[in-house]
Amino acid sequence: ADPAVQVPELLGSPLADIRSTGALPLPPALYLDADGRGRRNSTGLDLTAPAHRAPLQAALDRVVVQPVAEATPEQVDAAMARLQAGFPAWSATPVSQRAAILRRAADALDARLAEFCALLVKEAFKTQADCVAEVREAVDFLRYYADNAEADAGAMQGRGVFVCISPWNFPLAIFAGQVVAALVAGNTVAAKPAEQTPYVALKMVELLHEAGVPADALVLLHGAGETVGAGLVAHAHTAGVCFTGSTVVAQIINKALARKPNAPIPLIAETGGLNAMVVDSTALPEQVIDAVVQSAFRSAGQRCSALRLLCVQSSIADGVIEMLKGALEQLHVGQPARLATDVGPVIDDEAHANIARHVERLKREARLIAEAPVAEPLPRQIRPVAFELKRIADLGEEIFGPVLHVVRFESSVDEVIADINALGYGLTLGIQTRIDSRAQRLADAARIGNVYVNRNIIGAVVGVQPFGGEGLSGTGPKAGGPDYLRRFCTEPHLDAPA
Ligand code: NAD
Ligand code: ALA
Repeated sequence: ADPAVQVPELLGSPLADIRSTGALPLPPALYLDADGRGRRNSTGLDLTAPAHRAPLQAALDRVVVQPVAEATPEQVDAAMARLQAGFPAWSATPVSQRAAILRRAADALDARLAEFCALLVKEAFKTQADCVAEVREAVDFLRYYADNAEADAGAMQGRGVFVCISPWNFPLAIFAGQVVAALVAGNTVAAKPAEQTPYVALKMVELLHEAGVPADALVLLHGAGETVGAGLVAHAHTAGVCFTGSTVVAQIINKALARKPNAPIPLIAETGGLNAMVVDSTALPEQVIDAVVQSAFRSAGQRCSALRLLCVQSSIADGVIEMLKGALEQLHVGQPARLATDVGPVIDDEAHANIARHVERLKREARLIAEAPVAEPLPRQIRPVAFELKRIADLGEEIFGPVLHVVRFESSVDEVIADINALGYGLTLGIQTRIDSRAQRLADAARIGNVYVNRNIIGAVVGVQPFGGEGLSGTGPKAGGPDYLRRFCTEPHLDAPA
């Protein structure tokens, strides 16, 4: 028997403890004001209410995603010259004015939620629930960084031209979060969105300009990472780089920056994860399955925070795996614009081929637990799937799709955490246990940026669950946290006025 169940400190409610590094136990739709009052994060839209859904449907009917042109090397050069020239005026603009622009942009984005949701459905194939969450997160970043900048006004001295390079999986929230953090901290910004999702970025940059960001403080440059992205990183005017994307590209950028004659150039990199959830024998199976389904399959598994590895104590593993099979059979895999859809298609053919190759290999080499049915066949669909592996070390590299790997363990939970640490990534971790002291001990031992107890491991809330990893998962600082903006700044003179 697991000695754990004899420990007389089971929590009253297994759902009571929600914890992430630096986080507070609040429902996900709340964050704290400076005075400690809970506040809803951005709009209170309810997708199940017909009156709230009508504007979303109208926007889906109306919005068309337009093609964009890739920037030429000459355009990159001209943009960087313009941003370099624009830096003195923007950095001298009082922080209160920069923050006011962000708040105006937040209000405008909140008001245009339906339009931006439609763009996210059409360009990134996100489900409606994911779209609403993403627009809210972007609004939260704008308001949170505005508040932070004002609170920290004495320390906000921009570095120069910041290059912001973002991924396609949060083409609005991560794109906007990076850009406005760099801007409000006093930098001018060259923004390079992912080539898969350029149009939503274009609409966001238009919105920021309309809210008052000067044209020579923010320039959008479309194009491939290897050309436009690499050109921006290598550019002589680049004073800092903020990158979110794969670990391998972060390493390429790091090397390119190190080769520059004017190095060192600061790099903020938020990268991939091999995220695990550890389930001990005291955990509630229903709660585990709910958390697993959200974490592994929501957004078609295309979140850096998504669950890749479920480690279940062997005494309850059969029951958990049986319930997981049932849950996979219930998933609705289909058209992202439909409210009923849980899992839409993946982003592009290359991603599809890569995930499909991994699934085919595991069908030969591992034990298939279950694969979700497809409600409506569409291009680039991957059926959410779970496999049982023998060892944690068999996990391999991050596979960015709805594929869950399950491992049973006989060892102590502490050894499992050591094996997870040995993977070298450190983004998110879930702990499912009803023993409070164990949760705390494991969270302390984990070299992981965000640890969640008895809940899912996705959807960090700005200002409540600062988000970012360790090791191969990134450099920090955590996005949506109190220390983020300072990395974009130099420290002012000691005698600078507060
Ligand atoms: P990616 O690394 O392929 O691309 C990210 C961005 O980098 C894109 O804009 C791309 O054009 C650019 N890029 C590519 N090569 C470049 C180069 N040589 N120089 C400069 N820029 C270059 O990642 P992706 O496929 O867009 O996104 C998925 C990855 O992002 C996953 O690994 C995921 O875990 C990670 N991610 C991490 C976080 C986080 O907060 N830690 C958040 C979201 C996504
Ligand atoms: N911040 C995003 C999440 O927590 C990536 O899922």
